[in-house]
Amino acid sequence: MPDQPALPFTFEVLYGEGITLSQFDNHIIRRLSNMKSHFLDNAAYEAALAQEDTVLYEVYEIHRPEIPGELLHGLSIVHPGKVGNEYYMTKGHFHTVLETAEVYYCLRGQGCMVMESPEGDWAVEPLRPQTVLYVPPRWAHRSVNTDSKEDLVTFFIYPGNAGHDYGSIEKQGFRKLVVEVDASPQIQDNPRWLPPEVR
Ligand code: F6R
Ligand code: ZN
Repeated sequence: MPDQPALPFTFEVLYGEGITLSQFDNHIIRRLSNMKSHFLDNAAYEAALAQEDTVLYEVYEIHRPEIPGELLHGLSIVHPGKVGNEYYMTKGHFHTVLETAEVYYCLRGQGCMVMESPEGDWAVEPLRPQTVLYVPPRWAHRSVNTDSKEDLVTFFIYPGNAGHDYGSIEKQGFRKLVVEVDASPQIQDNPRWLPPEVR
């Protein structure tokens, strides 16, 4: 299908029991089975998967051409839950064009964004309603839902030509994990993380 002409448009964020968009072009569903090797506790992952291939997160995208000048945008919803003691999260990625940033606005829930640069610098920033998060160019990003009951819902906007590099994170992991300890979220070192010198 040819890309739509660049006419102005509006749509609505619909708040109900869940949050959705009045208009979208693509609905991505990521299940446990799509997250192999992302969680630290592999035995807990396999046990959970044997029970049910649960939906961990969903993304609603507005289609725009993937070219410089355009802005891709949509809604990301991470459901509550854990694999072992590690909270449900997105796969996480670098942008293929590293020098592209992203803005997230949190609409509902409690969680954080785990980020890291190719050099291994890291940051974890909180996400809660009314938080605006700026992910600078070069930083990989992964959203984590640390609430036990509520979805973590964010609206995201990023450059049309950014692209997604999932492979680097699949190989090296993120340096930090967010796990539950004594009923609270805690940031821990990822023992499987590969530092830049051994990648
Ligand atoms: C786009 C972006 C978000 C994520 C979404 C799902 O650049 O960062 O739209 O794509 O939160 O996460 P991933 O893509 O890591 O599965
Ligand atoms: Zn991104």
